Amino acid sequence: MKFFVDTADIKQIEELIHTGFVDGVTTNPSLIAKLGADMSQTIKSICSLIKGPVSAEVTATDHESMLNEGQYLASLAKNVAVKVPLTVDGLKTCKKLREQDIMVNVTLCFSVAQALLAAKAGATFISPFVGRLDDIGEKGMNLIEDIVIVYENYGFETEVLVASVRTKQHVVDAALIGAHVATLPPKIIHELYKHELTDKGLKAFLDDWSKTGQSIIPK
Ligand code: E4P
Repeated sequence: MKFFVDTADIKQIEELIHTGFVDGVTTNPSLIAKLGADMSQTIKSICSLIKGPVSAEVTATDHESMLNEGQYLASLAKNVAVKVPLTVDGLKTCKKLREQDIMVNVTLCFSVAQALLAAKAGATFISPFVGRLDDIGEKGMNLIEDIVIVYENYGFETEVLVASVRTKQHVVDAALIGAHVATLPPKIIHELYKHELTDKGLKAFLDDWSKTGQSIIPK
């Protein structure tokens, strides 16, 4: 399972890079706005740090303008995945960009029907938003389960990128289902390696070890 980091914050990305957990990055207009940084520059900087796909989202809503924005974003770096919303114009744009061999992440997916259309449009990634479905009382993970089945039924190559992840359990559930990718806020990535029994166990080992007066590498 690949992990993407769901942030536009270069510092957060730099902190995580050396862990080896980061296979790509996703951004969206809200994340860029929150930073107050220049979008093109931010995407270029992230792409120079990360070898894997870096999602950069268009903000136009009509096909022609989306296509122009998508081509511009793709020109910023080879590893840009252009993010388009799951609208009819977005799907048309996805198809065109894929014909030009540009990676496309179709975002704001909330149903299997939408995911099916994205795969038919040749999307590289489909981003179903599990947290936002949970927020309205649905079970977001059911959508992931269903999309994975439908894609397998027809051998679609579109990768299921679990987005709007809010908890460690979302990550575990997505992995059990076999989703290809999860995009995680940095906070969730840090939660993945934490366990109170690991901390407690380590403390006990070190306390016992200090009583021996030994050092592993002889002094
Ligand atoms: C990533 O591609 C999505 O834009 C992001 O995961 C959405 O997360 P949110 O629902 O927490 O805003």
